[in-house]
Amino acid sequence: MTATFLKIPIIFLLYLLGAHGQEVKDRYYPRYHLAPPIGWMNDPNGFCVYNNEYHLFYQHNPNSSLTSTLVHWGHAKSPDLVSWEHLPIAMYPDQSYDAGGVFSGSALVENDTMHIYYTGNVILEGQTPDHTNRQAYAISTDGVTFTKYAGNPIIPGDDRQPNFRDPKVWKHEDTYYMVLGNSYNNDSLGRILLYSSTDKVNWIEVSILDQSNGSLGYMWECPDFFELDGKYVLLFSPQGVAAQGDKYKNLYQTGYILGDFDYSTLKFTPTSEFKELDHGHDVYATQTLLDNRGRRIVIAWFDMWDQNYPERYDGFTGIMTLPRELKLSSDGTIIQKPVEEMSRAEGRNLIPGRGRRGSSRTYTLRNKAGEIKVRADASNNLKLYIESGSVRVTLSYDATNGQVTLDRGGTDGVRRTEWKPSGQLKWRIFVDASSIELFCGEGEVTFSSRFFPDGPITVRLGQLSRAEHVSVHEIVRTVPHGGQDHERWHVCVGG
Ligand code: FRU
Repeated sequence: MTATFLKIPIIFLLYLLGAHGQEVKDRYYPRYHLAPPIGWMNDPNGFCVYNNEYHLFYQHNPNSSLTSTLVHWGHAKSPDLVSWEHLPIAMYPDQSYDAGGVFSGSALVENDTMHIYYTGNVILEGQTPDHTNRQAYAISTDGVTFTKYAGNPIIPGDDRQPNFRDPKVWKHEDTYYMVLGNSYNNDSLGRILLYSSTDKVNWIEVSILDQSNGSLGYMWECPDFFELDGKYVLLFSPQGVAAQGDKYKNLYQTGYILGDFDYSTLKFTPTSEFKELDHGHDVYATQTLLDNRGRRIVIAWFDMWDQNYPERYDGFTGIMTLPRELKLSSDGTIIQKPVEEMSRAEGRNLIPGRGRRGSSRTYTLRNKAGEIKVRADASNNLKLYIESGSVRVTLSYDATNGQVTLDRGGTDGVRRTEWKPSGQLKWRIFVDASSIELFCGEGEVTFSSRFFPDGPITVRLGQLSRAEHVSVHEIVRTVPHGGQDHERWHVCVGG
């Protein structure tokens, strides 16, 4: 076993001494979505409940907000999925099998121990392929310090199939299962492998859950597999899916296939096509958790590879989406709702909902954060503008064609999908400094997109739009801003 514990104070000290030479600016930094205290964030990892608190790890480069190179596991915890506290970095790329990055993975909690499964990235300089992936294991008995297993890697992998990663582990009856994302056939087709173990350390491949027939990409990342309201859900992030009209317009996708699964044969039988989970620009690399209340909760990286958003010059890159509870509707659509605890972050009701008919009134969000609720007659078109200086995001509903559009302007600003509300048009919109999440109806359609305001953020209905209800709630800060957090860490390291 290798103790990573001793390294923590030294590296923290470097942090505190400003090794990055950069302050995290507040203008784009989220007030209530988790973001790294400094540096880079990508995928959510190790989402679990430990000692009645939610823990979330994430792909993190503490040394730069410009690149994910040599990712670590950043770490935060929350009593309620709303207020987050940053914890010391959980794992460093300090072993031969993970020196090229402590890549994504998951956590399984058993008998007060956190069992962590992750991918070690190995860079093979000057060789073809130039990297390979191994699966590794670590444990924590205090939820703060992590010990990598001496027998790592637990699954060595095949150097001819270098892309083999992102273990998601769960237990069913007396057996442990792991799904892994993989690219095979000379890196041309994506698939998901199922492994099993009886002791958490020795694993064997037991089946291929599903694979690309060519139309679903060359690599499937970040797989997750779980039962939801009587169906099995294979949730993953395929790379290399071609755009088709309004579908698959992002660089990479995240979506799901529903099906049936039998633990005796370990066969997954798909009963649906691949469907995108979200229709905005920025949802990737999801991870779910089954919490103590039996809720299936998903969280995603609220960003996308190669976006190069301007926050990268503000000392941080990447945020998480709101945690969302998942349900399955009778027509086989996954419904996503912000966890109900979100109401704890609601501050004052700035604009109480009441009938508004073509009002030209503009509402200014406090501290660039808030929740907007709209209810309207679904037989009319509707437009809502979220604006800041020269920046505008338009949300529109087209009653004739049954479509919703988010347009953030600029190149490739439009995202659109079908939505035919049953009954009234209902929207919940969460705005947070540099992000917008739109939940349509009961959450059957969502859009999550980043945008970068030019000052205060205002909201108004389109001139011709009529709504029966528009309300704006303030949302208070529940995530410490990077700068403030340095203070907290100082206390934590010094103490
Ligand atoms: C997804 C991903 C994972 C990998 C991680 C590396 O965004 O590419 O497949 O483990 O990011 O940071």
